[in-house]
Amino acid sequence: MPYSVIVFASGRGSNFAALAQAARDGALPIRLDALLSDKPDAPALTLARDAGIAAIALAPRDFPDRASFDRAIFARAAEFAPDLIVLAGYLRVIDAGVVEAWRGRIINIHPSLLPKYPGLHTHRRVLAAGDAEHGASVHFVTAELDGGPVIAQIHLAVVPGDTPESLAARLLPLEHRLLVATVDALARGRVALGADGIELDGRRLPAPLRLGADGRLHGAGAAVG
Ligand code: GRF
Repeated sequence: MPYSVIVFASGRGSNFAALAQAARDGALPIRLDALLSDKPDAPALTLARDAGIAAIALAPRDFPDRASFDRAIFARAAEFAPDLIVLAGYLRVIDAGVVEAWRGRIINIHPSLLPKYPGLHTHRRVLAAGDAEHGASVHFVTAELDGGPVIAQIHLAVVPGDTPESLAARLLPLEHRLLVATVDALARGRVALGADGIELDGRRLPAPLRLGADGRLHGAGAAVG
């Protein structure tokens, strides 16, 4: 059975496109089954349709409250019986009960070195703090916003003259590589969420994996994949 992945996105969809491309190239052992969105005009939906992948949009305004919207969109996702749900630029806080039902099977990509800078405007906040480095994280989703256990990160040096826009532009292609590598590790069963945190090959991982210049994830003294 191929490892089935569904992506949730609210906007541009470049992370979705990176997964779709890697799957198409045979570089990622997954079947990308659907793109779901809370924004009926999200460009990500068009990318999915063009790639021949199911594209489904539900509008929050058609539901009485957040929890009923979340139950409805996750019910649509469940129809595909995915092994993994990837939130990639999905700009909604999800009902805690709904998230809990997908524990260990739902990840998010966030443009900061979590636990630094959960929430919005991460590039601006890195510059305001004078940080020497920035980065991106892929983490398991829990009820706490951007607060679940971090699986893997990529680091990026901040250079003189950087702006929020220049940081965002340099980080985005790194995010794509990080997301593809992390989904690969999950699909191959190397990484999972255990009772005490992230496990690599069944052993608790003391710190997040890190994507190296060689394009591989490194952690616990070894390369993954
Ligand atoms: C990315 O920066 C991601 O880290 C953040 O939202 C952005 C989504 O970009 N969560 P895209 O829609 O995948 O192009």
